[in-house]
Amino acid sequence: MTVTKPLPHDAAHLHVTGAARYVDDIPSPAGTLHLAFGTSPIARGHITGMSLTDVQRSPGVAAVLTAKGLPFSNDVSPSIHDEPLLAAGTVNYVGQPVFMVVADSHRNARIAARKGRVDYTAEPALLTLDAALAADSRFEEGPRIYHKGDAAAAIDAAPHSVEGSFELGGQEHFYLEGQAALALPQEDGGMHVHSSTQHPTEIQHKVADAIGLPMHSVRVETRRMGGGFGGKESQGNALAVACAVAARLTGRPCKMRYDRDDDMVITGKRHAFRISYRAGFDGDGRLLGVEFLHLADCGWAQDLSLPVADRAMLHADNAYLIPNIRIESHRLRTNRQSATAYRGFGGPQGMIGIERVMDHIAHDLGLDPLELRRLNYYAPMQTPEAAPGAPRDQRSLPADGAADLASRGAPPQPATPPEPPAGVQTTPYHMPVEDFILHGMTDQLVESADYAQRRAAVRDWNRDHEYIKKGIAFSPVKFGISFTLTHLNQAGALVHVYQDGSIHMNHGGTEMGQGLFQKVAQVAASRFGVPLEMVKITATDTAKVPNTSATAASSGSDLNGMAVKAACDEIRRRIEDLLAERYQTRDIRFAEGEVHAGSEVLSFAEAAKLAYENRVSLSATGFYKTPKVEWDRIRGCGRPFFYFAYGAAITEVAVDALTGENRILRCDILHDAGASLNPGIDIGQIEGGYVQGAGWLTTEELVWDDAGRLRTHAPSTYKIPACSDRPDVFNVSLYDGKNREDTIYRSKAVGEPPFMLGISAWLALSDAVSAFGTDYPALNAPATAEEVWRAIRRVRDGI
Ligand code: MTE
Ligand code: MOS
Repeated sequence: MTVTKPLPHDAAHLHVTGAARYVDDIPSPAGTLHLAFGTSPIARGHITGMSLTDVQRSPGVAAVLTAKGLPFSNDVSPSIHDEPLLAAGTVNYVGQPVFMVVADSHRNARIAARKGRVDYTAEPALLTLDAALAADSRFEEGPRIYHKGDAAAAIDAAPHSVEGSFELGGQEHFYLEGQAALALPQEDGGMHVHSSTQHPTEIQHKVADAIGLPMHSVRVETRRMGGGFGGKESQGNALAVACAVAARLTGRPCKMRYDRDDDMVITGKRHAFRISYRAGFDGDGRLLGVEFLHLADCGWAQDLSLPVADRAMLHADNAYLIPNIRIESHRLRTNRQSATAYRGFGGPQGMIGIERVMDHIAHDLGLDPLELRRLNYYAPMQTPEAAPGAPRDQRSLPADGAADLASRGAPPQPATPPEPPAGVQTTPYHMPVEDFILHGMTDQLVESADYAQRRAAVRDWNRDHEYIKKGIAFSPVKFGISFTLTHLNQAGALVHVYQDGSIHMNHGGTEMGQGLFQKVAQVAASRFGVPLEMVKITATDTAKVPNTSATAASSGSDLNGMAVKAACDEIRRRIEDLLAERYQTRDIRFAEGEVHAGSEVLSFAEAAKLAYENRVSLSATGFYKTPKVEWDRIRGCGRPFFYFAYGAAITEVAVDALTGENRILRCDILHDAGASLNPGIDIGQIEGGYVQGAGWLTTEELVWDDAGRLRTHAPSTYKIPACSDRPDVFNVSLYDGKNREDTIYRSKAVGEPPFMLGISAWLALSDAVSAFGTDYPALNAPATAEEVWRAIRRVRDGI
């Protein structure tokens, strides 16, 4: 079967030869105009006047638009309509689009955009978490709180406790292809938009609102992105809407792409957090109670911040059964770029909190951090695997819990959740954990990575070396798969079989390099039993599959794989019925490019032709919705995830005391992709995810100055991992297993979970730093060379 084969990415040869077409490579029609934004130079204030005559007179300029000139809605927000395309009256961060220029070339548009004279009265900007907290500048009223048991009481009564706080920086997506859109005006006002987006339906929706037409008049197409990483879930809206508005105004095709510096200054990044914790534990290191305080820097607009901050809370337990836990999350509004989705979607921020607590406790008790983690793991699988479709979820939530709470006049906090049935372990949000496989995975990784022997060798090295010390650390991942907004867990597909047996496959997922199209094509080929070459992968297109969800939450292959399977199986059934009738047999099989009907053998092409000639439809749609999920984000209760994906990593590093410079020497990973649809692609996702996660926590530092200007707005100052930063020894394996839930071929989502394996690099740095003294290193993130150097001085010299 084609599924399970480690086939290369379908466009790999196009990527490496430069032949893959991205939005900017689509030949644009004669007369295409180009756009650029004039942006705010201040972080917060009012616009008091604008003089754009120099912009208008600049060479090649066709039009200049401000908020007042927009014909319909001035809104590109994916959530609560708080994000105008062009600033209307107030500005809220340095880089916010204020006016737009439409010119005959990309260069002329950018040159003209610099010539705007805009007057502002500046107001004090909120540039730090503390400033936002002091001003009570936030999204949502008050903090959100999820809890289980009584954490404060458990910590107070515990024989031991630790507490601490650390800063966690944001992260620039650094997709290789910047944001881009091309709008082609059609007859009768219609608009055809090519957009580098993870969410074509959202672009369609936003463009329709902006040009005052129903969604049916806007068609959005996305063949591929050169990376998205969450940065193209909502951040592409502005470019597509701007192009559509300009195309409507001028009647000409309009294109916009951000220059790299503009992209970094204008678009949102990963949410920076401050995480404070208090944990109580016994003498063996068993957790008794944990409290977390999450302060999330959401930037100026809400965007996707609420679900991101929620997901951080939902990963505060990571792999550990914590009897008493309380997580309090503040979503703070600051005058920075609006923070947005980024691989893991808050999960990494949540997870690193408890990993930090584990590191801190192990240091205090002098225990092996790996053993401490194992001790606190959830128990292995609790309930027997149910037959697919059998009712298995025994929990019953009191339906009136929220009403109860309201009648008592309580603040917006979760009701006391139901007691789980005896023997069922639950997360802090009261979801049973039934598929916990990390015990076995940990054993296997510890063995293959030779952990015990290498940990001893690191100790020996550190005893003998004064300036260069090594560190080694293990960290596990348990990541929840599904959109927490339950209705997003749906997907559609459209499949045609032509009379020569070739297959046209389309679905609502988008390709951003993660290999989704290839995996889903493998599903289609497997359903029809044909070679992969028979399946044509086609661009995501809102005119083919409507009302799609963003390709996000790692659920692309889970959702679209199932939708394509449904469409293929419908066509297959029709062919089967025809052949059954014709050859009087129910024994029909599709394999190796042939269709066997009893003793008759037809090529797949012959079967397709026969179906056509017998007036059997060879086109079908498919639809899928994830079962079992239900989630109440206000009460913090339910089953937000269909299942969990697991992983484990061991990283070894070296640090230099004189400069703080550090390197990852070796990394070993064992990751759970269920029964992988494509082990080659999945291993690529794991390697890339780990390196990106390690980059977030080591070299990638975002720096804003006191005026709120992002100073790290180019690769010269913002350091993503280079090829040479890849661990010298990098062993990545897939854990041999199947998803116990009924997913596509029992595979598991793999896009985001491995990102969080990068946490092991940060912990290894902490381990190395701790070798310089006795105090706990209390590293912040990112652990840049400077941060490592400072931590060494704290630990060694007490300064
Ligand atoms: N891999 C590549 N090469 N490029 C990307 O932009 N995005 C990541 C991940 N892997 C990304 C990637 C993110 S944020 C997500 S949510 C998933 O891929 C989305 O795709 P999937 O659902 O098909 O895994
Ligand atoms: Mo990924 S952050 O869910 O696009």
